[in-house]
Amino acid sequence: MTLLLAISGWDPDPWAERFRQLLTDRKTVILGEPFDRREVHYAITWKHPHGALANLPNLAAIFSLGAGVDHVLNDERLPDVPLARVVDTDLTNRMSEYVVLHCLAHLRQLLHMIQDQRGHIWGENRGQPAAKDVTVGILGMGVLGQDAARKLQIMGFPVIGWSRTPKELEGLPAFSGTDGLDSFLSRADIVVCLLPLTSETQGFLNRSLFERMRKGGRLGGPVLINAARGGIQVEEDILACLDEGVLKAVTLDVFQTEPLPAHSPLWEHKDVLITPHNAAMSSPDAVAAQIVEQIRKMEAGLDLNHVVDRDTGY
Ligand SMILES: NC(=O)c1ccc[n+]([C@@H]2O[C@H](COP(=O)([O-])OP(=O)(O)OC[C@H]3O[C@@H](n4cnc5c(N)ncnc54)[C@H](OP(=O)(O)O)[C@@H]3O)[C@@H](O)[C@H]2O)c1
Repeated sequence: MTLLLAISGWDPDPWAERFRQLLTDRKTVILGEPFDRREVHYAITWKHPHGALANLPNLAAIFSLGAGVDHVLNDERLPDVPLARVVDTDLTNRMSEYVVLHCLAHLRQLLHMIQDQRGHIWGENRGQPAAKDVTVGILGMGVLGQDAARKLQIMGFPVIGWSRTPKELEGLPAFSGTDGLDSFLSRADIVVCLLPLTSETQGFLNRSLFERMRKGGRLGGPVLINAARGGIQVEEDILACLDEGVLKAVTLDVFQTEPLPAHSPLWEHKDVLITPHNAAMSSPDAVAAQIVEQIRKMEAGLDLNHVVDRDTGY
């Protein structure tokens, strides 16, 4: 039985090394090395080349190395076997660190502080709202959204959430569906996107949504943080809305094209904080062990965890 690692954009070697340590009774191959296609039972992917998982006659399951699966489902030749994604405490904690960090950065006007420092300016007192005066709205109340919400509440932020299906979450006002979106947007000073990229969310963070975000809050305008996927945002609209004052500031970890091209005006914009798609990285130590556990479960005749619904796309 062979595990096929079909990874692009990341170094596959640390992953191969970890799987070889954990599964000594199996063969682990990296796509590009010679292997017998009939021997492959499991494929492990991050942005695999389209078609690379086709013609594997004994393939039993596919595992995504990330929490998101848009990079898998957009392969038109994807075999019809169970697809499982990563749900991992280490990755969840990292995302919550990122969300809390950037909500605090906007609360404490870090972009202004950095500009002042570059200009050797002992900045005037800009006023300092408290976390309790700034509501954070999380788009996507799944594994990552719910954990980030709890940690933001510890910092004193009022938090509200929005999801596709209705939810009852203790101490957290929850909105859902198209009907609940405007009520959600009209209450949030900072909107954090933790949605999956699907046919429904493609281009969702656009001018129409920004114009419906809350005006007049303590930050002086609505703030957007997107740590989900670049395909969910329309960068042209973000830039125009920043320039027109429809948006006050943004943090972007993900982009329509990655790496973000050097000529993108986002790099230079004074109201934009950029990080290179590293809000929450998958760690080989944590994630490989989880996938091996999933393989053992499957071989014991038990159900896989975190199987993706191909109809909803997440
Ligand atoms: N930047 C990074 O480093 C990084 C790292 C990890 C993950 N991510 C991204 O984060 C995303 C979320 O991960 P997760 O583990 O929290 O996913 P998840 O547990 O599947 O949660 C997804 C949430 O989004 C909601 N949702 C999906 N489609 C929607 C729609 N059309 N309208 C409204 N709500 C919708 C779901 O609603 P229901 O609850 O009603 O189903 C759910 O609450 C991943 O898909 C990935 O793209 C980014």
